[in-house]
Amino acid sequence: MSVKVLFVCLGNICRSPTAEGIFQKLVHESGLAKRIQIDSAGTTSWHQGRSPDPRTIAAAKKRDIDLSVLSARQVKRSDFEDFDYILAMDDSNLSDLKILKPEDYSGYLGLFLEFGSQKKYREVPDPYHGGSEGFELVLDLIEDSAAGLLLSIQKNHL
Ligand code: 4NP
Repeated sequence: MSVKVLFVCLGNICRSPTAEGIFQKLVHESGLAKRIQIDSAGTTSWHQGRSPDPRTIAAAKKRDIDLSVLSARQVKRSDFEDFDYILAMDDSNLSDLKILKPEDYSGYLGLFLEFGSQKKYREVPDPYHGGSEGFELVLDLIEDSAAGLLLSIQKNHL
């Protein structure tokens, strides 16, 4: 049986596809690709079917991660049947997910950065309206938390 992880942000074109790509790479490098399944979604359908933001693709490419193949989708209620971990990028995403969550959801719903080691940020800041440094920060925060998430999953499930 595999562990299923869903990363969620607002548009599914900046933060959550970055988390999907970074965590996928880490899981692959750890030889766990068959044990951990990964996806991402947005709380909105604003960018449904589109590739990640070109700035997100460019920033990830510099770290050897190809996000160009991903396409945005909106989170749905049945995701709570499919995913063991649903990880929000910020508090606003988390409160939207709590509204959607079935009462009997037995998986883990929380903020992704709770798995990280840094203490300065508890949310991944939305980079959409800012400059390139925002996209680098997104990558740095996500890399840190991805490592912690993998350790936690290995300890608790594998
Ligand atoms: P994301 O970033 O939630 O990290 O994908 C955003 C993408 C699009 C918009 C806002 C944030 N937007 O306003 O369209």
